[in-house]
Amino acid sequence: MTAARPAAAPAHNVSDLPTIPVGSPLLLLGRGADADAERGVICAGDLPAPDDPTLVDRARRAKEILGDRVMILGHHYQRNQVIEFADARGDSFELSRQASIAEAPYIVFCGVHFMAESASILGREDQTVILPDLAAGCSMADMAEGHQVVDAWARLERAGVAAQTIPLTYMNSTAAIKSFCGERGGAICTSSNAAAAMRWAFDQARTAPGGDTDGGKVLFLPDQHLGRNTAVLGLGLELDDCVVYDPWQPDGGLTDRQIRDARVILWKGHCSVHARFQPAMIDRIRAERPEVEVLVHPECRHEVVLQADRVGSTGQIIRWVEEAPAGATIAIATELNLVKRLGQEHPDKEVVFLDDTVCFCATMNRIDLPHLVWVLEALIDGEVVNEVKVDTDTRRWARVALERMLALPGDDRSLVAAHASA
Ligand code: 13P
Ligand code: SF4
Repeated sequence: MTAARPAAAPAHNVSDLPTIPVGSPLLLLGRGADADAERGVICAGDLPAPDDPTLVDRARRAKEILGDRVMILGHHYQRNQVIEFADARGDSFELSRQASIAEAPYIVFCGVHFMAESASILGREDQTVILPDLAAGCSMADMAEGHQVVDAWARLERAGVAAQTIPLTYMNSTAAIKSFCGERGGAICTSSNAAAAMRWAFDQARTAPGGDTDGGKVLFLPDQHLGRNTAVLGLGLELDDCVVYDPWQPDGGLTDRQIRDARVILWKGHCSVHARFQPAMIDRIRAERPEVEVLVHPECRHEVVLQADRVGSTGQIIRWVEEAPAGATIAIATELNLVKRLGQEHPDKEVVFLDDTVCFCATMNRIDLPHLVWVLEALIDGEVVNEVKVDTDTRRWARVALERMLALPGDDRSLVAAHASA
C-alpha cells in the first residue's frame, strides 16, 4: 500500500506572486544590526537608503564612469533590480567561465560567497573580486566545514578506501574544500556538468595509484541530492550504491562495511530552497493541468526528480523554457527570482512556480540595488569594499580543481537523457 502524501499547496502562476520592489526592506542590512553576528552588516561610508528614488540612475551612472574597469557578474537567482546591471548573467558554471576570462581589474559578483571565492581563484592575481554584501552566503555550503571534510577523509582511510576514492565537490562549497579536493586528485562540478564530473572522478579512482581497477569510489560534497540524482540518473548506479555520511554523527554514522560496499559516499548537505519541493506538488499540478511539463533542478530530492519531466541546471531550465512552443504550460522547481523572470520574459507561455510555500533564496536576495550602488560608488572614490580574496595556499589546489572542471563539457545533458529514457 502506498502511504498517503501530504496535500501540496496550490501552484501559482508567477505573475500572481508579489514582486520585490527596488530597495525592499526585506533583509535590509547595514543599519542597526549586530555586527558580531553577521558578516557584512557594517557598510563603511553610506549605504544608500532602500527607498532612494535615484538608485537606478546612480547605478547607471556608476557603471558608465567605471566603464571597462568593472565587470558585473550576476547569477540567475539574483533580483531583477540587480540582474539588469549585470554584464554577464549565468549559472554557476557559466559565471566561473566568465570569471576565468574577465579582463576588467574589478569583478563585482552578484551572487553568493562561494561564487565570489571561485572568481577570485580563477581570476588573475591582480584582479579584485567584490561581493556587494558579505552576508550573502549559502546554507548548503555552510553544511560542510573544512575540518569536517578532513575528518571524513580520515574515516575513509580507517575504512581502508581512501586510496580508491576521489573527492568531488559541488561548486557550492568553501575554497578550502575545493582546495582539499584538488590536492587529492579530485575536482569541482556544477549542476550543469555533474554527471561528466562524476564519470571523470570514477575514471580517476580506477587509474589512481592504489586505485580500484574494478570500480572506485567518489566522495561527493556537500549536496546529497545532486550527488544521488547524478549517480543514479546520470551514471545508472543503484540507490543502494550510495550511502550518506553525516558529519555530525560519530564515524559519519556509517560502518566500515557500509563504506566499503558503497560506490558513492554522499555528504549530508542540501539546499534549503530546492529541498523544500515535494512529489505531492507535482501530483497536484498534473491533476490541475494535465498538459504541464515539469522542470526541476537536480538539487531537488530524488523522489521529486523522479517524477519530473526534465531535470537540469539553471542554465538548462532557461533553455528549455526558451525552446518550449508558445502556449506551453511549464511548472518549475527552482529559485523563485528566476522562475518569476522566466514568466516575465515569456509572456506567450504559462510559467508556473511549482509551489507557493517555497520562497526566494534568502542569501541570494541579500544582494540588492543599494549594496550594488554602494560598492560601485566606492570604487569610483578609489575604495574597495567587501573584497573576497582567497589566500595563495588555498588558491593553488582550488584552482587545479576548478580547472579540471572547466576542462569538462560545460553543458552535460546526460542526466536528463538518462532520466528521459528510464
Ligand atoms: P546552478 O547555477 O549550477 O544551476 O546552481 C544553482 C544554485 O543553487 C546556485 O547556488
Ligand atoms: Fe545555496 Fe540553495 Fe541559495 Fe543556491 S539556492 S545559494 S544552493 S541556498
